[in-house]
This record gives sequence, structure tokens and C-alpha cells, in this order.
Amino acid sequence: MAKIRVAVIGAGGIGGTHLRAYAAHAERCEIVGIADLLESAAREKAATYGGAVFSDGEAMLDALNPDAVSICTPPKYHLTAVRAAAARDIAVLCEKPPARTLAETQAIVDAMRGKLLQFAFCHRFHTPLRAAQDLIQGGKLGELVQIENRFAFRFSRAGKSWFTEADIAGGGILIDTLVHSIDIFRALTGDEIERTRAAVSTSLPIEVEDSASLLVQSESGVIGSLNCSWVTPVAEAIVRIHGAEGQAVIDYDADAELRYRLAEDEDWTVQRFDAPDRFVAQADHFLRCIESGGDPLVSGADGLAVMRVIESAYESAGSRS
Ligand SMILES: NC(=O)c1ccc[n+]([C@@H]2O[C@H](COP(=O)([O-])OP(=O)(O)OC[C@H]3O[C@@H](n4cnc5c(N)ncnc54)[C@H](O)[C@@H]3O)[C@@H](O)[C@H]2O)c1
Repeated sequence: MAKIRVAVIGAGGIGGTHLRAYAAHAERCEIVGIADLLESAAREKAATYGGAVFSDGEAMLDALNPDAVSICTPPKYHLTAVRAAAARDIAVLCEKPPARTLAETQAIVDAMRGKLLQFAFCHRFHTPLRAAQDLIQGGKLGELVQIENRFAFRFSRAGKSWFTEADIAGGGILIDTLVHSIDIFRALTGDEIERTRAAVSTSLPIEVEDSASLLVQSESGVIGSLNCSWVTPVAEAIVRIHGAEGQAVIDYDADAELRYRLAEDEDWTVQRFDAPDRFVAQADHFLRCIESGGDPLVSGADGLAVMRVIESAYESAGSRS
């Protein structure tokens, strides 16, 4: 089979990560183009990963007609880029959050109907999270009761980048980071969220929230406490899963490991994984979907489900700022 010709729109931080991930699958795909409004950013990445350089994503799609494109721009520009890809029948891997609003996400899903659309909820491809899903599905933890999650760190780009401009980002940390937490909760429970209650706060001189806490409940009754902050200095990225028969912990600082302790255990069991990182695994899955015509693990429906929760979270917090 000929190599899949891939392109990337948006050559910033995560654009570089997508390029690295595609480069790890060089036997199956070829990076043909990189577009960024800042042509120098595209040029810099092309020096490492190859591909032709463009300052306009649509012009790149016209010139190169790739099989697939990663959309790695800030959220405000996701919909325009997806529509350009959809019009040319190009498969899309679109970064999170899907867009700034549920309505924009719906427009993305509508544009890509009948075509391959994968949203880049990369934690689905984190091996310890997949192992936790296996533990849950195998019944080891018993009935799920609560899931606690915290993603927190001092964000150096807060107040200095589009991340804290509401019109470009669609909101603050709730839509930027808690969007991952919601997807993780849905992936672990295998269930939709039916109740949502959020609180947000802003301590920096910025126009969006920089801390958010979200209490959710799934249709089957599992409670989630999801917490994120851009202002607390002790960085933490952790998911604790509590079941009636045991607990499992995904601690991102411990990298590729899952630890769990069951009711009868005297100590923790630590599972370690020698696996590719989640971005490489995510790209692998996207390429496989193109090769096989299969459905993506993270579909348009997942993007819509997450954005429904985001909208109701902002509503319950009485804030969209
Ligand atoms: N999955 C993850 O863990 C993860 C991590 C970081 C960022 N992201 C997401 O990835 C996206 C980009 O974030 P980032 O950290 O790479 O931002 P960034 O600011 O580092 O890079 C964005 C790049 O896009 C370019 N750009 C802006 N508008 C453009 C347009 N219309 N056409 C072409 N290029 C354009 C900018 O010049 C910049 O180089 C966001 O949606 C963000 O939420 C996801």
C-alpha cells in the first residue's frame, strides 16, 4: 500500500507533537506539508520533519491534496480548517477542544459526515488508562463509585497567549484542560454524564477562568470530581478510580504505570508499560482507520458529548468568561 500523505495545519506546540508522532510511523506515512500563519514556525518544523511549507492551510490542501490532515490551530480556527478538509475529502485528526462551542462542534461533525473525523482526545491512547479500562471491565475494582481527577500546574502562557483570550480559546481552563477530564471520565465509566455542577474562579489578571472544579454524575450513578488549575504551583496530573472492590491510580508523573489495590490486597500492585507515548499511539490509530476504513475510537459523537458537558458546566457556573 502507498504511504499515507499527511499534512499539519498549525505548527506550534502540539503541531510539533503530531509531526513527531507521524515521523514515528514513517514506514506508513509521509509528511508532505506543514502550514502555519507564521511561516517561520512551519519552516522550522519542516527542517526537522520534512514537507513543503505554507502560510495558509487551505492553499496547502489545494496544492498537495493530502490523504489526511492534523488540525493543530487554536480552537477558533478548527471549524474553518475542518470545512476546508471536508470539501476536499481529506481525513481529519482535530485537536481538542473540538471547537469553542457545541454549535461549532456540531458544524464540524456535520461537515465531516461520511468522512473520517477523529478528535484528538489523546488520553484515550495513554496505556495506563487503557489498562484501567481493562481492570474496570474485568470487574476487578467492583462497581465504580467515584473518579477523582486533578490536572494542575502553573501555566506560563496564561495572560501571554491565545489560551487566555476568550474569543480564540472559547473560555479558560475549563474548556482547555477539563475537556480532557470529561473525556477520561466518559472513557472509564463507559457512560454518558447526566448531571453537572461547576465552579470556576479567576485569580490572574486575565479574561477567562484559571481554575475550575466540576462535579459530574454518570447515567449509572458514578460520581466524578474533576479539578484543574493554572495557578497552583505544585504540578499534579492524576486520576484516582474508586470501586466497591478496590482503587486504581493513574499518576502521569509516574509515566507509564498503573497502580491498583484491591479489597483483600495488603499492598499496591504496580503495572509498568513499555509502550509508545499516547501521541504516537493516537497517530497509529488514525493511520489504521485510514488504512482499514474503520471507525475512530474517538469520534464526532464523543466530541459532541464532551462539548455538551462543557456547555452545561459553564451554564451551572454562571460564567462563560
Ligand atoms: N492534546 C493535547 O494534549 C494538547 C496540548 C496542547 C494543545 N492542544 C490543542 O492544540 C491546539 C493548538 O495548541 P498549541 O499549544 O499547539 O498552540 P500554539 O500557540 O503553540 O500553536 C498554534 C499554532 O497555530 C498557528 N495558527 C493560528 N491560527 C492559524 C491558522 N488559521 N492557520 C494556520 N496556523 C494557525 C499559530 O501561528 C501557532 O504557530 C489547541 O486546540 C490546543 O487546545 C492539545
